[in-house]
Amino acid sequence: MSVTYNSETKTFMLQGKNLCYSFWINDLGYPEHLYLGASVGNDDLRFTRTYGATSTAATPPGIDNVNSYNAFPSELSFFGTGDYREPAVQIVTPQGDRLCELLFDSYEIVPAKPKITGMPSLDGGETLILHLKDKINGFAADLYYTVYDDCSVICRRAVYKNCGSADVRLERAYSFTLALPDRDYDMISLYGVWAKERHIDRIPLHHGVVSIDSKRTSSSATLNPFIALLRRDTTEFYGEAIGVNLVYSSSYVLKAEVNPDGTSQITGGINDFDFNWNLAPGEVFETPDVVISYSDTGLGGMSRAFHDAYREHLINRRYVKASRPLLINNWEATYFNFDVPKLCAIADAVNGLGIDTLVLDDGWFGKRDNDYSGLGDWVVNDKKLQGGVKAISDYVHSIGMKFGLWFEPEMVSEDSDLYRAHPDWAIGTPDRKHCYSRHQFMLDLTRREVRDYIVKSVSDIIENNGVDYVKWDYNRNVTESWTYSLEPERQMEFAHRYALGLYDICERIVNGHPDIFFEGCSAGGARFDPAIMHYFPQIWTSDDTDAEERTKIQFGTSLVYPLSVMSCHVSVCPNHQTGRTTPFDTRAIIAHLGATGYELDTTKFTDEEKAAVKLQTAEYKKIERLILDGDLYRIDSPFEKGFFTEAVVAKDKSFAELVCYRRFVSVNNEVRRVKMVGLDPEAYYCLEEKNIKAKGSTFMNVGFSPDYPHGDFSAVKYHFTRI
Ligand code: DGJ
Repeated sequence: MSVTYNSETKTFMLQGKNLCYSFWINDLGYPEHLYLGASVGNDDLRFTRTYGATSTAATPPGIDNVNSYNAFPSELSFFGTGDYREPAVQIVTPQGDRLCELLFDSYEIVPAKPKITGMPSLDGGETLILHLKDKINGFAADLYYTVYDDCSVICRRAVYKNCGSADVRLERAYSFTLALPDRDYDMISLYGVWAKERHIDRIPLHHGVVSIDSKRTSSSATLNPFIALLRRDTTEFYGEAIGVNLVYSSSYVLKAEVNPDGTSQITGGINDFDFNWNLAPGEVFETPDVVISYSDTGLGGMSRAFHDAYREHLINRRYVKASRPLLINNWEATYFNFDVPKLCAIADAVNGLGIDTLVLDDGWFGKRDNDYSGLGDWVVNDKKLQGGVKAISDYVHSIGMKFGLWFEPEMVSEDSDLYRAHPDWAIGTPDRKHCYSRHQFMLDLTRREVRDYIVKSVSDIIENNGVDYVKWDYNRNVTESWTYSLEPERQMEFAHRYALGLYDICERIVNGHPDIFFEGCSAGGARFDPAIMHYFPQIWTSDDTDAEERTKIQFGTSLVYPLSVMSCHVSVCPNHQTGRTTPFDTRAIIAHLGATGYELDTTKFTDEEKAAVKLQTAEYKKIERLILDGDLYRIDSPFEKGFFTEAVVAKDKSFAELVCYRRFVSVNNEVRRVKMVGLDPEAYYCLEEKNIKAKGSTFMNVGFSPDYPHGDFSAVKYHFTRI
């Protein structure tokens, strides 16, 4: 990894793992992009400059006969002086002037990535900070670029600064612009809805702008804050892929634009819809990180780059590679209908089967026997739980298990003591009724007193009840976004201030309790983004626990996020969401491709099922290191075929698991061969289940036929051990 500046050619060259990024400062002082791609020599890349047609182009202010800003491949596009592409930034001065011309001022190279104030960000690497400035109004932008030697990503962000003498209003403040040399790309995005999160869309880019966004004050299940641009012939294994993922949990936008000259660019960050931000003289506005991964080994290479970056530089170090709680969660077993004996019986039934944590889900607090009431009242319901939550945690600790507890800290029910005492703490306008969603309202995290209440009430419970694990849920999105904490002209700061408020309570609750393991959840996986992953090393992937549905959800999620972040449970059949019945073994094999657990009424287990669980958890423990730190290779996509096949290979290639799932059986099935991937071609391996010993290259080039069990939705797994 290295960041260098050649003062003769005015060229910056950033070399990271398997990638190279370069731009130069042209004669106007404009940072002009040169290259993002596979590693190349430290050469002067200005020979690549070619500009398209210039007719009707506007030259930079006051200079005739030079190329237009519209023609330069941009590092940060700005509006009003001839560049008609999507700007990354727009400001308004008190005079109504909306222009800024951000040109090179100076640069710094610093050894590690500086933190962002109030927002989670990646660490490590080596960072270039490029200082750009408008000479007229003093508005300035610092562009941060970080490269790494252990992951093929470049991390970027912008910091906007008001160095002038008057207020400036930011109307748009994106994190980056990335120029691309042509327009021969497809765009992938991850769309979804409750219980059907992160399915894959792939469309060709076209002239004009393709964009995805969220206006929900949450990253959302609707569109994950991720896009990838792929060459038209790029597959899972071959070709170029550029992935873009925002480290942000509130409303965002990502745009891919094809320009009239046939080049393209990507830009985005905090959504500028329903956004503005007042910057007084001397103030700065920090934008979230965007992680850009480059791969010339297809989508698979792109995903592994993201996985490495997040495991090495973003997720809580203490937990990222640590063995996870193997839990039993009572939600699908009881919903709101439980008492102390029932919960203890659920734990008893799995004691000794390899499950080590009981998680008590929704319904233990306030008046909460259904989802109409109680949120915000983080007081144990002693009537429902005789002896309190403590009675359960004491019991599970006494049988050698750990104890987890559910919260939904950001919410309030209309029927709650908290709402009766502080109706103005709920987000909403004073003169309108609020929308309900799951019969509940949201708390205004932009207010310090609200955040203090949440931190204190949640901390009191977890500190006094022997809690080892917290499940942090979030089941609705903001409506009526308005807050008593801001003057009228600043109300459009709300969505970003909500994110800052969320990160503040996460810092104080999560980092304030370093011995407690926190899992994220959002009606399943509706806030599954890198920023929230910084606090929650695992996130409940979806409320849909059906194994067939999960093959798609987990496949899509893995495009960006590591297996260790995906929380996956084995549940009962017929499945509560789909009514489908799948084999118990299949449910376990699919759920074991993540941070695993069980979620069903274990008191109804037969002896046979108990024996199966004991075996499943023992097998999971054998491969847990792969889930925590292995390289994922997707082989068959359930979106394209009736098969889902994935391999996870240890970093040192000494061990690997191959999971093969077949959707439907048919009579006289066709023969099917699966080629293993990711092994060391020169090493010898034993395919344990078949007792076949062969070279890695043999398993990868010749393949073998998996023995799918008979019937629909069948799965089988294989293990390769280096000998
Ligand atoms: C939604 C979550 O996704 C479920 O797992 C469960 O915790 C419920 N909320 C509880 O209300």
